[in-house]
Amino acid sequence: MRLPVQNGIFFCKVTAYPQLDPQSEVPLYQQLHRYFSELIRSGALKRGERLPPTRELAGLLGLNRTTVSAAYELLESEGLIAGHVGRGSYVTGAEIPGMEGLNWNALLEPGSRSSVQPVVAGSISFAVSRPSEELFPVDDFRLSCQEVMGGPDFTSVLQLGSPGGYEPLRQYLIAGAQREGVMRADDDLIITTGCQQALDLVRRVLIRPGDRVLVEEPVYPGLKNLFAEAGVELTGVPVQTDGMDPAQLERALGKAPAKAVVVTSNFQNPTGATLTAEARAAVLRLARTAGAPLIENDIYGQLRYEGEPITTIKQMDETGDTILLRSFSKISFPGLRVGWAIGPRALIARMMEAKQLSDLHSDQLSQASLLRFAMSGRLEAHHQRVLKAGAERLAAALEACQRYLPPGTDFTRPQGGMNLWIRLPEPLDAGELLARAQREGVTYLPGRYFSVNRPQPGGLRLSFAGLGPERIDRGIKILGEIFSSELERLRGAWKREPAPAMV
Ligand SMILES: Cc1ncc(COP(=O)(O)O)c(C=O)c1O
Repeated sequence: MRLPVQNGIFFCKVTAYPQLDPQSEVPLYQQLHRYFSELIRSGALKRGERLPPTRELAGLLGLNRTTVSAAYELLESEGLIAGHVGRGSYVTGAEIPGMEGLNWNALLEPGSRSSVQPVVAGSISFAVSRPSEELFPVDDFRLSCQEVMGGPDFTSVLQLGSPGGYEPLRQYLIAGAQREGVMRADDDLIITTGCQQALDLVRRVLIRPGDRVLVEEPVYPGLKNLFAEAGVELTGVPVQTDGMDPAQLERALGKAPAKAVVVTSNFQNPTGATLTAEARAAVLRLARTAGAPLIENDIYGQLRYEGEPITTIKQMDETGDTILLRSFSKISFPGLRVGWAIGPRALIARMMEAKQLSDLHSDQLSQASLLRFAMSGRLEAHHQRVLKAGAERLAAALEACQRYLPPGTDFTRPQGGMNLWIRLPEPLDAGELLARAQREGVTYLPGRYFSVNRPQPGGLRLSFAGLGPERIDRGIKILGEIFSSELERLRGAWKREPAPAMV
């Protein structure tokens, strides 16, 4: 079809209506994104051609305008189109006859399907699991940076370093890990560009495309997308109130061999669930019996607001085979990208080689400044403030969930971390309701971002740590009103449906 002429401009030639499937697990905006992406990559849509305006395309396809906008935003984030306020969206790069450069869209491998959730400016966002900027001790950290820059080691900070990490920070972390009992004589430690890179390095040295890895269901999207992109076969093991369910892990391990098990021991993302000591021991025993390395992601462990800390799996592991991942991202500044992994020496040596190939080593100014921040006691003071604020925010979120969400809603009650998980009563679909919530100024991540093998239509994650208690209350109140009114509407419609004759 040729889309309509408006103001004398032909919009791009779209050969057929996109076949969108509202029943699919793939959200409509991603289906629409894929449709245009393929047209552009195949050359059917040429550089300089204009895409139909969002409002018109939404009308033509019977979609919500925000769905079309989300698809366009995704195309734009991949550099396939560029939007111009008031003039519409164009396939990137105007054609100048005889001067065409390389057709990058045709050359590039298809992008990952792991789309980024569009950010809606000014909204109450429960969508990102990150600390609150309001709590950043900017002056204290500036002082730490100044001390590094004015100190005697500054030239070595600026010099090329080692793939293992900035040695003074590495030694500091090793000493702490030894005191805690999570580092044995034949373990080593590598500093990584956040916990995310540690997951990537472990994947590179341990796991091949087609290998099977067991992860939590629902799971942190950064893990799911990283492994899926590398052709790893993921099996989700359901998370219950106490984290990954050992009985279901046993069943999954019994079905087929696994190359690794990845588990979050404390305040799992997205559910906030924490493995009990018994469950930790069971997960460790099951993984060991199956011969599968256990990767313990403990990125949230230092964010406990109530209750007693539970021994890490790494510490329980008598053979020392567990790989422990940690990070400064949640207790201080995610923008500095500093994390670390502790594991058997042979594994860490291979991770250092892989890191060297990837980025030589992590930024040393960040590492040195964090070391100074920690050694001066400023990190601990900040940590205490984060714990206090986190406890208030978690309490506000739980209270608001209790007060505003419709009857039949389930939500987790973590004792720490940044996230809680909501399960809406049927037939509510958190993905479908997101556009409405965003129009009313609130955003969250629906279940599809976290599901591995089981769709989670009623699931959604609320990341509460980045918002003050008042905004948390206001945001959940708005969500509660949306969910309740939609539930009423759907149940009302269901009741009005005439009963079919019994045949
Ligand atoms: C479970 C989990 N693992 C890893 C990461 C990545 O952390 P980093 O910032 O240290 O790379 C996150 C970030 O949200 C996370 O929630």
